[in-house]
Order: sequence, then structure tokens, then C-alpha cells
Amino acid sequence: MIAPEVGTVDGSLYERVGGNDGIRSATLAFEDRAAKDARINQKFARTDLDRLTKEFVDQVCQATGGPCTYTGRNMTETHANMGVTSGEFEAFIEDFIAVLDDFKVGQADQDQLVSFLRSFRGEIVEVDSSQDGTPLPSSFVPGPPL
Ligand code: HEM
Repeated sequence: MIAPEVGTVDGSLYERVGGNDGIRSATLAFEDRAAKDARINQKFARTDLDRLTKEFVDQVCQATGGPCTYTGRNMTETHANMGVTSGEFEAFIEDFIAVLDDFKVGQADQDQLVSFLRSFRGEIVEVDSSQDGTPLPSSFVPGPPL
């Protein structure tokens, strides 16, 4: 018997997280949670949320094997001058995991999603400090609305 391709036994991660609808619902839930989290919410003060939702969904869709192509900006450019601290990065990951728990995403799939997010740490964290809740610097320039 010919061995199945990697990922076809249980379907792709994209399918297991509910495809585009699942990723979109989880992204909206995450944005909601982040907006209430004083550890990170100041960073989103000048952001166009429709743009953020679309770009984040596309990025996760592509990373999980879905039929999308991420066309947003790279992570260094996107988060430049945002002044994100190590502590804020960890708070962001914590909120993301809480949403994955709410959406009943299994542990192995959570680990894969979290390591995808963590792979961008060096491009996003600008301040090596455990402090969180720091303000958005005035030098930050948000992306244009879609
Ligand atoms: C952990 C990995 C992360 C990933 C994969 C990620 C991904 C993204 C993506 C795809 C966008 C939209 C790109 C575009 O507009 O072209 C974005 C924007 C944004 N991210 Fe992240 N992000 C991460 C971490 C963080 C953290 C830790 C913070 C703050 C605590 C943050 C705050 C923001 C904000 C405020 C925007 C909107 C920027 C704007 O207004 O132009 N992100 N992120």
C-alpha cells in the first residue's frame, strides 16, 4: 500500500480548525479579547480592524495549509515602532491560547499554531522587558485601511 501524504490522515490543520470560517471566528474572538486586555490593548489604538482581521486570517489560513495567499506586509514592517515588549508578546500569546481553548482546538494543533506565532518573535519584539501595558509610541505609523 502506498503511504498517504503527510497531513492527509486527519486532514490538514486548516480543516481541523474549521477552515476559513473557523479561523475568522477565532480571529474575531481574539481581537475582542485583546481589546479588553490592558496588557496589550493600547497597541491597537490606531489600527484599522478590518485590515487586521483580513490579513491575520489570510496569514493563518496559508500557514495551516489552506487555499489562501498572505498579501499583507512583512512582520518587521508591520510592527515597526510599536514598541512591543517581551512581556506584551507573551500576553498576546496567552490571549491567543485562551481563544484556542475556547474553540476546543486540540493540544497538538495548539502547539503548532503557537510555534508559528512564536517564529515571528524576533521581528516583533522591540523592547527586551517583562513590562506590559506600555503605550503606542507616536512614531508608529499604522497600515492604510483596505
Ligand atoms: C505573535 C505573532 C504575531 C503575528 C503572527 C502577527 C501578525 C500580524 C498581522 C498579519 C498583521 C497585519 C499586517 C498588515 O496590516 O499588513 C498585524 C498587525 C498588527 N499587530 Fe501583530 N502579530 C503578532 C504579534 C503581535 C503583538 C505581540 C502585538 C502587540 C502586543 C501585535 C500588534 C499588532 C497591531 C497593533 C497591528 C496593526 C498594525 C497597524 O495598525 O498597521 N501583534 N499583526
